[in-house]
Amino acid sequence: MKISINDNHLYDINAEVTVVFTLDTSELLHEGVLSELGYKATQDETCYISEFKTLYVGIEAKEHDLFRSAAATAIKTLSKFNYKSLKLAQSDINDDEGIFTALVEGFILGAYKFDAYKSEKSESTLKEIIFSSKTLEDEKSEVPHLEEALARAKVLAIATNYTRELVNTTPEDLFPLKLAHIAKDLAGKHDLECKVLGEAGLKDENMNAMLDVGRASRHESQLIHLSHKPKNPRAVVSLIGKGLTYDSGGLSLKPSASMVSMKLDKSGACAVLGIMKAVSELNLPVEVHGIIGAVENMIGGDAYKPDDVLRAKNGKTIEVRNTDAEGRLVLADCLCYAQEKIEADYIFDYATLTGACVVALGNYTTGLMAHSTKLKHSMSRAASNTGELVGALPFNRYLKKQLKSEIADISNISNKPYGGAITAAQFLDYFITDENKQKWMHFDIAGPAYVESAWGYNPYGGSGAGVRMTVEWLSNIK
Ligand code: BES
Ligand code: ZN
Ligand code: ZN
Repeated sequence: MKISINDNHLYDINAEVTVVFTLDTSELLHEGVLSELGYKATQDETCYISEFKTLYVGIEAKEHDLFRSAAATAIKTLSKFNYKSLKLAQSDINDDEGIFTALVEGFILGAYKFDAYKSEKSESTLKEIIFSSKTLEDEKSEVPHLEEALARAKVLAIATNYTRELVNTTPEDLFPLKLAHIAKDLAGKHDLECKVLGEAGLKDENMNAMLDVGRASRHESQLIHLSHKPKNPRAVVSLIGKGLTYDSGGLSLKPSASMVSMKLDKSGACAVLGIMKAVSELNLPVEVHGIIGAVENMIGGDAYKPDDVLRAKNGKTIEVRNTDAEGRLVLADCLCYAQEKIEADYIFDYATLTGACVVALGNYTTGLMAHSTKLKHSMSRAASNTGELVGALPFNRYLKKQLKSEIADISNISNKPYGGAITAAQFLDYFITDENKQKWMHFDIAGPAYVESAWGYNPYGGSGAGVRMTVEWLSNIK
């Protein structure tokens, strides 16, 4: 999709169809054909007037994310037509940079389709979007630096789609070694360093918890370490991703219905890859490390078992009481690795870690857990600028006691049924050193990472959760 800005008046731009976003307060609604057709401009409501070759799309209120959604609706609607190009003007309702950015992102996110496994690809004819830099009244846009905003929005939305595509890829096609190849490929195309450890390397690093989880898989586990290293960075940030290319539950096997879609369990890793892509394309003045634990959790004679005691990289022992709580075991080792190798100012981990987080916050919201209230607040602000939804879940010392083990340092599951998202994060906290407590934040993306029924600009499948909010947050580092 080619998106450009043109300094001509809308009428002088050559494109086949026009898109007009309307608020329900718009005067357009009171007279003429739109009112005859009963168009009320409710959110994402569309009305196409063929005589004017114009598609009207409703927007409920002047909120950035509603523009993102409306742009996605416009592109999805027009993808059923045969037009090749669309144009739109600046207007008094899209008068700030956040709205312009949201529209560009909405077009790109809305155009995403996952058809890798379809024999017949239904490719849209629409290939070009032209924004006039002027309003219909011939005034120049009030948004300064339109071109810069356009370039940035493209990077963010394309990185989100890149993450979606990886998440959607099947476990047969995307196993740990393949993920390592994808990371190397990304590093080759961008200016990133990439180091990969296979099972021998993991053994040398004493990453036995991670190794044990992957033992029954026919695929070797991989640790992937990407880095973006600009000169004189403003800060150093480590991003750790859960990369379970498949989670069958292991010997604590998931029931059949819950196993379907567990290719999604690599979403944290895929988000880290998407973030690294965007960070390098934007050349952010921040040193960013992406560390991925890529593992497949399977069953077999060699599988790790409930009752095993594992020894993590930092020497702490873990009693396994449920092999389906595997993500935290992989992350424990990866967090130790990150803290040992990188002296970071911030340490974030991304994981589809618990069903309990989905119970707590619903399908659309990422659970943020951290000791630092400031960190949670700054991430919530960044998220709301990008249309991602987050909710903070609080730690407390009583819940932490539920991870007590009679025979090892800690158990991999809680001994009580409630508060599972928090106890999972508190398990991870056990592997965060005292100096790093205030620097660490955990993102449980189990709810939003994978979409079972489309919402907003998110189609069925991977959503790219975590990518836009994190790049926004990293861009704000002063
Ligand atoms: N990958 C799952 C969590 C998950 C569930 C992600 C649903 C997305 C949707 C994780 O490894 C898991 O199985 N967690 C268990 C933990 C339990 C055994 C303590 C869960 O949430 O049930
Ligand atoms: Zn699991
Ligand atoms: Zn899992």
